[in-house]
Amino acid sequence: MKNKSLVSINDFTKENHLRIIELAAEFEKKPVQDLLSGKVIATLFFEPSTRTRLSFESAVNKLGGRIIGFTDASSSSVSKGESLKDTIKTVMNYSDLIIMRHPIEGSARYASEVSNVPIINAGDGANQHPTQTLLDLYSIYKTQGTLDGLSIFLVGDLKYGRTVHSLLMAMSQFNTTFHFVSPVELKIPDEYKIHLDSLGLKYFEHTDFTANIHEADIVYMTRVQRERFSDPIEYEKVKNTYVLRNYMLSETKPGMKILHPLPRVNEINDDVDENTKAYYFTQALNGVFTRQAIITSILGIK
Ligand code: CP
Repeated sequence: MKNKSLVSINDFTKENHLRIIELAAEFEKKPVQDLLSGKVIATLFFEPSTRTRLSFESAVNKLGGRIIGFTDASSSSVSKGESLKDTIKTVMNYSDLIIMRHPIEGSARYASEVSNVPIINAGDGANQHPTQTLLDLYSIYKTQGTLDGLSIFLVGDLKYGRTVHSLLMAMSQFNTTFHFVSPVELKIPDEYKIHLDSLGLKYFEHTDFTANIHEADIVYMTRVQRERFSDPIEYEKVKNTYVLRNYMLSETKPGMKILHPLPRVNEINDDVDENTKAYYFTQALNGVFTRQAIITSILGIK
């Protein structure tokens, strides 16, 4: 993985996933180490973020590296019309690694093609969010003790949800049974079902959330993303379709965990937060260790 960009989870093998999980576990035991001394990491966020940017920055700070970048493209020369290509070709002169979130699908791949330092995709439109997936895998592994043979419920916006798309691709390497729970307007795109068919994996589509929830090892909730809808009326129609409440968890497996990439709006009621099955804030913490593993792997630091 040394000096390679992380653009798509599809570029990762099963062995790559397991190696990152192993390294993340090591960083969880010892998160403060002087491994990035002298390294400059750029974070270019053309879209808002709390967890991804701050956990990356926390990861770098704990390892002794320095951060430069912007959190709002309007404060950069992009606002004067500078292209993505020119932005990347400039920032690569100032940094050893660029972490970028951008609203356009394929922008991270493009940036990796014009950059001579590695690019980490921190989310490109509705396409992919590979580092979220790696922290999701770490969270699933930590809570279930395995990635193999699990039953995963993906709930909410399965059409535009980049975290869902990346997680599905990664978990399809581990003999997973998928349950897709969404309103018809936000169904999982056919290309993902074709992929699962090609692997002979089982999947089920539901509109009723709770019917089979007792089978779940992981319930992965997602937000219906207002920013992905061109028609606000369409968003209003589906935004409150699924709300997970504490009483709905009574028949679920004892070891089942609820994950959510966050931010949530109202799809998980606050009364779930105290349930031991709620794992989403620990999942966000796992992002620091996983991103330490990703950065050091890409920079070839042992
Ligand atoms: N999970 C995630 O990407 O959160 P942010 O949008 O806050 O970075």
